Amino acid sequence: MRTIDWVDGAVEIIDQTALPEDLRVLRLHTVGELIAAIQALAVRGAPALGVAGAFGVALAARVHADDPAALAQAVHRIETARPTAVNLARGARRAARLLPAGPAAVLAEACAIRDEEVAASEAMAALGADLVAELCGARPRLLTHCNTGGLATVATGTALGVIGELHRRDALGAVIASETRPLLQGARLTSWELSRWGVRHRVAVDSAGPFLMARGEVDAVILGADRICANGDVINKIGSYSHALGARRAGIPFLVVAPESTVDPDTPTGAHVEIEDRGAAEVTAWSDAVNPAFDITPSDLVTAIVTDRRVIRVDRGETPAAPSFSPPST
Ligand code: MRU
Repeated sequence: MRTIDWVDGAVEIIDQTALPEDLRVLRLHTVGELIAAIQALAVRGAPALGVAGAFGVALAARVHADDPAALAQAVHRIETARPTAVNLARGARRAARLLPAGPAAVLAEACAIRDEEVAASEAMAALGADLVAELCGARPRLLTHCNTGGLATVATGTALGVIGELHRRDALGAVIASETRPLLQGARLTSWELSRWGVRHRVAVDSAGPFLMARGEVDAVILGADRICANGDVINKIGSYSHALGARRAGIPFLVVAPESTVDPDTPTGAHVEIEDRGAAEVTAWSDAVNPAFDITPSDLVTAIVTDRRVIRVDRGETPAAPSFSPPST
């Protein structure tokens, strides 16, 4: 099942706000509907957002074929629907480059982005499972954060794809999914996906992660990214940094799995990234609140970054912006 696809002239997504209670599909016919779905997190996760951005431009190209100003405005609204994951703007811009060639060419580019993300997930699953086996030995006990499965990509996933691959190899010890407050991507979505795959797991409250690591119950932390900066700083769901600190203190690897489409060599460090603030309402109805949706894990806390093409050993001084690196087209 694909989280997002183009079906009969509309964008179809699994509505992630309804999971795990309801598995329902939304058909999005307009740019406005797509942007609302992105902002409500009905479609979410960096790679899936890249595909959503590109399909959004395909929708806009059909409606505004004869109105360049309206088209440009629609592309801008899509690019900026959420600020943190680099994939959204990158996917929209890449599709928008095909606008002069017409709506069919834009759609073909969007479908290519979708297919590339599917292939990237498969590559990461294999690369990441090999690295986990190398670093952690047999039957590792892994802690993951947020949701990085097929729901966050198109199919398979990034960090969760690695966990699925280890399960298929019969090489997985245990999985802890941290619940990921306030929207519970771990408790609702990761748990739902792991159950469907037949992977036994437990959910822990976010603040339990570092303690479980200190008690020796976790062999590695493995999670995804919304943006990886040139110096190796990792932007990911709020709570990732706490897990990185816990992992460093416990002396276990902190592994980041993300496609090259999430590597952003144009952003030097995490300090240059806009961290989405999603407002108080998601946190509490009783008092004022601060609700940053992502955080920055400094590169010195990262052991390795696994993309679909590389294993970057950050702990050995390698960076995503190494001279051999040729950045994905934006
Ligand atoms: O706010 P979300 O749910 O879109 O945040 C998603 C994450 O932080 C994921 O960990 C990240 O996008 C990696 S998805 C493979």
